[in-house]
Amino acid sequence: MIHIENITKFFGSKKVLDGVNLTINKGETFLIIGRSGAGKTVLLKNIMGLLRPDSGKIFIDGNDLTQMNKKELEKVRLEFGLVFQSAALFDFLTIEENVGFYFYQHTSLKKPEIRKRVKDTLKLVGLEGIEDLYPYQLSGGMKKRVAIARGIIYNPKIIIYDEPTTGIDPIAVDKVVSLIDDLHRRLGITSLVVTHDLEVGLKLADRLAFLLGGRIIFQGDKSTLNTTTDARVIQFIKGSSAGPIKETEV
Ligand SMILES: Nc1ncnc2c1ncn2[C@@H]1O[C@H](COP(=O)(O)OP(=O)(O)O)[C@@H](O)[C@H]1O
Ligand SMILES: [Mg+2]
Repeated sequence: MIHIENITKFFGSKKVLDGVNLTINKGETFLIIGRSGAGKTVLLKNIMGLLRPDSGKIFIDGNDLTQMNKKELEKVRLEFGLVFQSAALFDFLTIEENVGFYFYQHTSLKKPEIRKRVKDTLKLVGLEGIEDLYPYQLSGGMKKRVAIARGIIYNPKIIIYDEPTTGIDPIAVDKVVSLIDDLHRRLGITSLVVTHDLEVGLKLADRLAFLLGGRIIFQGDKSTLNTTTDARVIQFIKGSSAGPIKETEV
């Protein structure tokens, strides 16, 4: 479904992605793991067409995103549901207006119809009756779930979670992890989870890729992770400061 060939991305003279190759299959949950600053979010933005790589190709369902014009890109972007690192809700809008944002902005659907879809989607993420509240009235974990509702409301083909559990307490983390897992089982959407938290990532993913130094140093089924002999991967799994990965190396 997503096939990435040898992409590089520079910011100034800094090479953030250095020849990344990846294949994500339809219907699976794929994990991209790596240290903070490794370039995970930059990689996501390339996959969604929000950033253009300096070289390489990105195929979504066989079509190369790097060759598309603005209009074609906008269309492809609708196939993605994105759940940002910070829940990124608009503080001055109600939960209904946040979750229904896409419909209010880009369609001619009437308010009662949007309200119904929002209600149904909120139910799907385990939040009922909060349509008229504002984001400041919710806990961090609830905000993440509202962000998930906003990401899935228009039935995307691919859902991308960028650090879905960062910055919330352990009980809320558990709820969000169960929710992502449950949605994947119920909706069967291809899911891409990006996190620095290996424990969370492995609970959700079928396959994974480990990004270090702008390159994928491990890619495969999670069951093969513990048979790897790569000392860098082993160090990351152990969460140890001792090993070949230097403190400053991302
Ligand atoms: N728009 C930008 N301009 C310049 N540098 C950027 C930009 N976006 C990201 N970077 C740099 O790219 C590197 C990777 O960032 P990011 O993808 O956010 O890491 P993470 O793996 O934590 O998501 C960081 O060093 C960051 O400073
Ligand atoms: Mg990030």
